[in-house]
Amino acid sequence: MRASAPTISGPNGPGLHGRVSVPGDKSVSHRALMFGALAVGTTDITGLLEGEDVLRTAAAMRALGAEVERLGPGRWQVAGRGVGGLVEPADVLDMGNSGTAARLICGLLAGHPIFAVLTGDASLRKRPMRRVTDPLSACGARFTGREGGRLPLSVEGAADPLPLDYAVPVPSAQVKSAVLLAGLCARGTTRVEEREATRDHTENMLRHFGAAVRVEADGNRRVIELDGQPELRGAPVVVPADPSSAAFPLVAALLVPGSRVTVEGVGLNPLRTGLFDTLREMGAELTVSNRRVEGGEPVGDLTAAFSELRGVDVPAARAPSMIDEYPVLAVAAAFARGTSRFRGLGELRVKESDRLAATVALLAANGVQSEVEGDDLVIARDGSPAPGGGVVETHMDHRIAMSALVMGLASARPVAVDDSAFIDTSFPDFIGLMNGLAGGTAIAPLEETA
Ligand code: S3P
Repeated sequence: MRASAPTISGPNGPGLHGRVSVPGDKSVSHRALMFGALAVGTTDITGLLEGEDVLRTAAAMRALGAEVERLGPGRWQVAGRGVGGLVEPADVLDMGNSGTAARLICGLLAGHPIFAVLTGDASLRKRPMRRVTDPLSACGARFTGREGGRLPLSVEGAADPLPLDYAVPVPSAQVKSAVLLAGLCARGTTRVEEREATRDHTENMLRHFGAAVRVEADGNRRVIELDGQPELRGAPVVVPADPSSAAFPLVAALLVPGSRVTVEGVGLNPLRTGLFDTLREMGAELTVSNRRVEGGEPVGDLTAAFSELRGVDVPAARAPSMIDEYPVLAVAAAFARGTSRFRGLGELRVKESDRLAATVALLAANGVQSEVEGDDLVIARDGSPAPGGGVVETHMDHRIAMSALVMGLASARPVAVDDSAFIDTSFPDFIGLMNGLAGGTAIAPLEETA
């Protein structure tokens, strides 16, 4: 058991200033390690996120027979086993807090004739796994889990996996990716259909490693086809800075008067940038400079300056491109003038916590009323700073913790969280980075300020 870390953030006078780099993209980091393990030859990774979630994936790839070595900060090398070459792990694979690691590894194991058991922390053990194990069972793999298919879960992979043809019923890049990973080991063509486009890092990286992937787009709908049993070849991966992490210092800069913050080298894959479009619709001064392509992904430097925000109506179709950003967007809406409505947030209920309920509670603890209407979140405000003064329960959810601490930097009174320890899953040294921008101790352990 890790020690919990009650933490508090308070208003800071001169605002947030500076240029910073945030850690590497979590989605790309997991995939770089997994595809490296499935490739022949070596994969050199730069900018890997060294957060706990990704370190779990690194450990799992080692347990499955790949050689995974840390060469320096963010610099990792993987010597892979080739598609179909993973070996049976000697022990249970513990995926910690990471849904992405657990679900993608189910896909990877489904196509290998080996036995493995997956588990995770109390948050991950509550999360639904049938969304991957149901489709993956059709390739011949067998999964046995707890009630609701939850972790711990055993997997007996298929010796001769069948290619899958699957229409993903919920917008989920994890489900799509799990099916495609199983398809790597199958003879023939795997086909995945999604009604709403979700992040396409798996498709992009499969191509980068030499697989044949065809994507047909029709509006928001996508059909992805993968030819099975390719020889994946190790390839260099440059991980962009995570837009989902950049969101926190950027929103803080928008909310704290006098601020101007630049975050460098942020991934701008269009299936990830819904938050930035939404903030601009709210009247945010948020600009991109130095646009370039690095390692096959568009990146740029993002600058945010304090702005008076107005309420916004975010369509459900945009949700997949900003699914992890709603808690911090809700914080922004708490400082905006007018009504904000975020539509189609059902998937938030099955994140690291029930993020819809946790976001409502975060706001309520700090004097901001919001309503859940069906799957929509509605926040109506008058543009004055949120009152603050609350203690937020983070429910083992890194993004709830960071969103609450961002709120405390701008609200009338400080905001505390019961535990900031889980921030390390995705954003190691978040507190140090934010304090650097604040030019002092704006975020601190709760005991020290009590
Ligand atoms: C992820 C997909 C999303 C996202 C998660 C990372 C990925 O989950 O919330 O943080 O890397 O594929 P869903 O696929 O469940 O929406």
